[in-house]
Amino acid sequence: MNQQPPQAASAEKSRVLIFDTTLRDGEQSPGASLNLPEKVEIAHALEALGVDIIEAGFPITSPGDFDAVKTIAAQIKRATVAGLARCTERDVRRAGEAVEHAAHGRIHIFLATSKIHREFKLKKAKAEIIRLAVENIRMARNFVKDIEFSPEDASRTELEFLGEVVAAAISAGATTINCPDTVGYASPGEYRAMFEYLIANVPGAGNVIFSSHCHDDLGLAAANSLAAVQGGARQIECTINGIGERAGNAALEEIVMAMHTRPDVFPFTTGIATRRLVPTSRMVSSLTGLHVQRNKAIVGENAFAHESGIHQDGVLKERSTYEIMSPEDVGLVQNKLVLGKHSGRHALRERLEVLGHRLDESQLDKAFEQFKILCDKKKEIYDEDLDTLVEQQLETIESLFQIRNLQVMASTGGVATATVTLVDSSGQEITDAATGDGPVDAMFSAIQRITRISARLDSYQVRSVTAGREAQGEVTVEITHSDRKVRGRGFSTDILEASARAYLAAINRVRTLTRRTIGQATPLEQ
Ligand code: KIV
Ligand code: ZN
Repeated sequence: MNQQPPQAASAEKSRVLIFDTTLRDGEQSPGASLNLPEKVEIAHALEALGVDIIEAGFPITSPGDFDAVKTIAAQIKRATVAGLARCTERDVRRAGEAVEHAAHGRIHIFLATSKIHREFKLKKAKAEIIRLAVENIRMARNFVKDIEFSPEDASRTELEFLGEVVAAAISAGATTINCPDTVGYASPGEYRAMFEYLIANVPGAGNVIFSSHCHDDLGLAAANSLAAVQGGARQIECTINGIGERAGNAALEEIVMAMHTRPDVFPFTTGIATRRLVPTSRMVSSLTGLHVQRNKAIVGENAFAHESGIHQDGVLKERSTYEIMSPEDVGLVQNKLVLGKHSGRHALRERLEVLGHRLDESQLDKAFEQFKILCDKKKEIYDEDLDTLVEQQLETIESLFQIRNLQVMASTGGVATATVTLVDSSGQEITDAATGDGPVDAMFSAIQRITRISARLDSYQVRSVTAGREAQGEVTVEITHSDRKVRGRGFSTDILEASARAYLAAINRVRTLTRRTIGQATPLEQ
């Protein structure tokens, strides 16, 4: 793992900084909201992965986002921690307050520059855009000296004007210039040419780091990011599993492995410990509830599976016939059976660490207790089962309600009844019962009655966590409450219990988000 701070690392001309925005742009994926312990867990996993900069959130958007950025900034020591801000005094101050005590803090300011955004969104002239950028960059430097400026929608901005804005931002003190392909419109050739033009023509370009930030609307995010580096950019903004707004952001694992596998075409290095890619991918998928498609490059379940006879035969004779990377290099463990009923606390801790989870003694005690309960229900415990143990624990830290007991009665063609007992954060038990079309519907209604939170159920999905009859079931629900989509997941060897857990997880999240956004005054417009 790279131990250098980003600025020192970037002194090497071929070194590309990896700026991870899973916790900011990634978390903007609909339904992907994470609670504070989950964000902190991911931030530590990103640091262990070797990313150079972690964009931890957008502090002005809510007290919860502010707390997340501040907490992560206090805990992360090697990587730089960035907070996002629009080009306004309030935003910049809030981001500054969140990162000013970080070991390495960065304020990331953005302001749209393209004609479309200037005319329709901002209703501002070119001169006004430059003035705002300069004023806010100068103000941000009162908090930290590491300032990133992003001309939003840069790839659709007139090149000459983009050059003027970038020159002004550099002279005002920006140290990184990020030129986003905000709407995923650019082609690799165009995007590369934009960086080449800016680096060749903008005064002061040699004193800053240029950065790419690509969205995947046309499936070109990774290709565009790599083209940017060929054009002179030395920072790539990306997310684990490519999660993010709409079609997502450039996927970190794809960019890193492209450079790793094809140094002849991309002669660049990163500080990423590639063997941590699969564990980090799995953690992000598990905590955000955003599943990775099976055929996803690098981290998908089938990325290294050879189904056809011809391919299997070739791989058995010589792996390189059909494999361009080794599964071990990305951290894919072929023998996934790890622990069982006779495994001890120490073995559990070791395996959880390999998977990227850091548990303190009391969390480990609880995880071990849950592990033993699970071992009584299923003989073989896989990595995926261990992820579920940690996920459930992180889930309960901020939970207002937990399940104490469930009793469900259902029959073919009849009305189902569920009696549910929950315990709230003060330890009080509350029991209520409800009927429904089926057992799941009845349980959800009983939970609504107890928590007094009614929400619309948008989706309900069941799948098994691992293979086999004993496997745990995973239920994912998506609910809408006051126009906000929230997701919850639950696990159990009993599918009804998993359903109740998932629904309650979503309801608990509604409670936390409601508490966290109280006091939010700024509508997110610019
Ligand atoms: O896509 C984008 O333009 C962004 C900016 C805030 C950098 O996410
Ligand atoms: Zn973005």
